[in-house]
Amino acid sequence: MIVGLPKEIKNNESRVAITPGGVFELTKNNHKVYVQKGAGFDSGFGDSDYINAGAEILPTIEDVYAIAEMIVKVKEPIEEEYKLAKEGQIIFTYFHFASNNNLIDAMVNSKAVCIAYETVEVDKTLPLLTPMSEVAGRMAVQQGAKYLEKPIKGKGVLLGGVPGVKPGKVLILGGGVVGVQAAKMAAGLGAIVNILDINLDRLRYINDIMPNNVITEFSSEYNIRKHIKDADLIVGGVLIPGAKAPKLITRDMLKDMQPGTVIVDVAVDQGGCIETTKATTHEDPIYIIDDVVHYCVANMPGAVPYTSTIALTNVTLPYVLQLANKGWEKACDENAPLQKGVNIVNGEIICQDILK
Ligand SMILES: NC(=O)c1ccc[n+]([C@@H]2O[C@H](COP(=O)([O-])OP(=O)(O)OC[C@H]3O[C@@H](n4cnc5c(N)ncnc54)[C@H](O)[C@@H]3O)[C@@H](O)[C@H]2O)c1
Repeated sequence: MIVGLPKEIKNNESRVAITPGGVFELTKNNHKVYVQKGAGFDSGFGDSDYINAGAEILPTIEDVYAIAEMIVKVKEPIEEEYKLAKEGQIIFTYFHFASNNNLIDAMVNSKAVCIAYETVEVDKTLPLLTPMSEVAGRMAVQQGAKYLEKPIKGKGVLLGGVPGVKPGKVLILGGGVVGVQAAKMAAGLGAIVNILDINLDRLRYINDIMPNNVITEFSSEYNIRKHIKDADLIVGGVLIPGAKAPKLITRDMLKDMQPGTVIVDVAVDQGGCIETTKATTHEDPIYIIDDVVHYCVANMPGAVPYTSTIALTNVTLPYVLQLANKGWEKACDENAPLQKGVNIVNGEIICQDILK
């Protein structure tokens, strides 16, 4: 199959969909790979790395779309890319159709085969979303620690403390992928970590695997109100699949927090679990309400493209190889998780959930 790897053109997106190692696997399987010039540059991969892996470099995005039978991307196509998709062409990427009617219309009109990373499903989990939650969870503590510094508007607390000074306190709402990775980072720094979830099995698991400075508690309004009074950093990592995140911290609760407390609401892409959350960007990541610093960047992994690109390729490559080796129909017939990823084919909406 002819596989195309365009450069991402969405604002602030520095990832690329396949590493040179992934391209090597494709060319080894006798597929032809065309990479747009500079596509991997921001992720740390030069054109020569792709050439060494057997790819050919094409100068423009138009060239890549024109020649490829399958386009592999990171983010959903943006308006400039709508006209490039063509009939019968497989496009394998994050689409997030549900929040974007223009994209649905454009892909229906293109008659392309749209297979979405975010709906590939294995045993009720979404394996192509997991690595980005892992990145965001770990980054949440890194960012939170930074904004706790006084010159960057925080409380002036070092999360690990020092001998003779108590460590900082991190409150994590949601003990899923984001929550566990955040807890791991915060615990590693030496902070006192309180992690709250409504799923007791999940709390049992966290209790088993985490060090003693991570304390699990049931997520209730009472417990949240208790912890926000002296938390230094609050991480929002709650998810109710297919629904908006519940507002666990309401506007009136900010006054109970100490000035300079930092909130990193990772769940911002589902509306956030803090009432005062509104999406921010890497250029302007924070804002302050009632002396509480809010960091609500909706594409956190975009800031660490090297790590995120490799983490993404680790999970997408097996599916890319199946699609290339078998063609999309056979690959999806033989692989139920991949079948779930099929959203739109030849102008027909297959995954009705995207219309909800
Ligand atoms: N901002 C970003 O760049 C970015 C990146 C990756 C993921 N995310 C988002 O982060 C969020 C979390 O993702 P995840 O992969 O960790 O999800 P997950 O499903 O693994 O975990 C969510 C957890 O929230 C818990 N939960 C549900 N209701 C709760 C409540 N009332 N109180 C406490 N816990 C509750 C669930 O039991 C579950 O354990 C999602 O909205 C995801 O889209 C954002």
